[in-house]
Amino acid sequence: MLVITQRRFAALLLVALARSAFAEGDAEAGRTVFQAKCSGCHNIGPGAQAAFGPQLTGVVGRQAGTTADYQYSDAMRNAGVVWSEDKLKAYIDDPKGVVPGTRMNFWWIGSDQKLSDLVAFLASQTGQ
Ligand code: HEC
Repeated sequence: MLVITQRRFAALLLVALARSAFAEGDAEAGRTVFQAKCSGCHNIGPGAQAAFGPQLTGVVGRQAGTTADYQYSDAMRNAGVVWSEDKLKAYIDDPKGVVPGTRMNFWWIGSDQKLSDLVAFLASQTGQ
């Protein structure tokens, strides 16, 4: 009985360690996620311009709804959100939960790992 309990504990510990190792996010893997899930509506990188959605260069640390060449919804313009990595994760997970009334529709990124990778990629795109 005790043996099983210890094994279980070891397994849980391994899962916890693996999770924290992955939580960092891999920007190169995130580029692929961006291309698959976001690039249909968003441009990113030096000189990127608005498309169906606003450009996302330098989005980490940016006030929501403030790029000059995009007509935002009133909801986004007045969101009062600064895009931290955590806010971006929450928004990608549930756009209307974070900015009620936003025009962006998005369903499911696929996994927590993909979300971490994607946000690491976004953070790497400073426009430099
Ligand atoms: C179907 C098109 C579409 C897809 C796919 C999409 N978006 Fe958007 N996104 C939009 C639109 C439209 C807006 C503007 C929303 C508004 O004004 O309410 C937006 C807004 C945003 C904003 C706010 C930007 C700002 O300047 O405040 C972020 C951040 C964002 N999207 C990230 C993403 C990411 C990351 C992905 C991929 C996981 C993604 N979006 C996928 C259409 C899309």
